[in-house]
Amino acid sequence: MASDLENLKSETLEALAQAQNHAEWDVVRVGVLGRSGKLTGLLRQLGSFPHEERKERGQSLNRLRDELTKLIEARGKEIEEDALQQRLQAERVDITQPPASARSGLIHPISRTIEEITTIFAAMGFRLAEGPDIESQWHNFSALNTPEHHPARTEQDTFYLPGIEGDDEQRVLRTQTSGVQIRTMLQQEPPIRIIAPGRTYRADHDATHSPMFHQCEGLVIDKCITLGHLKGCLIEFLRVFFNKPDLPVRFRASYFPFTEPSMEVDIGWSKETGVIGAGADWLEVLGAGMVHARVLSNCGVNSAEWQGFAFGMGIERLAMLKNGIADLRSFYESDLRWLRHYGFSSLSPATLTEGF
Ligand code: PHE
Repeated sequence: MASDLENLKSETLEALAQAQNHAEWDVVRVGVLGRSGKLTGLLRQLGSFPHEERKERGQSLNRLRDELTKLIEARGKEIEEDALQQRLQAERVDITQPPASARSGLIHPISRTIEEITTIFAAMGFRLAEGPDIESQWHNFSALNTPEHHPARTEQDTFYLPGIEGDDEQRVLRTQTSGVQIRTMLQQEPPIRIIAPGRTYRADHDATHSPMFHQCEGLVIDKCITLGHLKGCLIEFLRVFFNKPDLPVRFRASYFPFTEPSMEVDIGWSKETGVIGAGADWLEVLGAGMVHARVLSNCGVNSAEWQGFAFGMGIERLAMLKNGIADLRSFYESDLRWLRHYGFSSLSPATLTEGF
């Protein structure tokens, strides 16, 4: 081999041995095999050699390139392996060590609030129901009497998913838990008395909106159910939940496609002090109404025989009000200091007797 090739080989070997990490190794690799690398340069100059030398030099250059490529790759693997070993050593978890602090885990305020809501409604004879997060447009909108052109259906508000094989209708991430009303009525005959807490999704993100949040749906279907039952049930719930027997509750006319009449439910509070149950201001906490006759018939329920009410509440909103949490986003940041402050002991679950 010509002496310049010998030199390149020994130089490269030395540089490779000295490279101690991926970055240093890469400098060597590029310096030899890269576009303006030394070996590449030599290959380019081949044309300037006299014809009789060219063949032999070409062959040695090719051999050298194969050899160096192999050596460089091998050293790269070695460096990678060393780095892995070092990480495994450094990050080893000694499971025989006692915990740094003996603090036990806490229940997240969202989970706790769901538990409190469930406990109160369970005492009123409600059963838990559930539905999927990925929902058909029929369950999420159409069966709930929401017309095709309704603004809630636009992509600005709703996350759409591609259709699945054999069925190209797009699914949605459910924008409300109201689809569980439909699923329940299709599954069982009335009388019905369910609540359905769960995750919901809307294309919205700021201090008071999160793209994923939680709602709790409620549905009661029976003979002779009236607006009086709806009011009695929700007033009772809110007073127990906020632990204020004289909490002011107001029902305000509103509109939802799936209830008629529809209303928004407000509780009394003071905007200035944030105290609930005292003060001259009102705060909206849930939506409700008598189930629309069309929704009943979409589910095969005879509206001449059965009627009922439905409601839906935002769980984050209730948890924030009850626990004095100012920013919605803090629920999902997994900040341990926040969780330690607002979390609940797993040893004292929600019960009706202790009062919430
Ligand atoms: N689904 C409605 C919402 O997300 C709330 C609601 C539920 C209203 C049930 C009436 C009846 O805003």
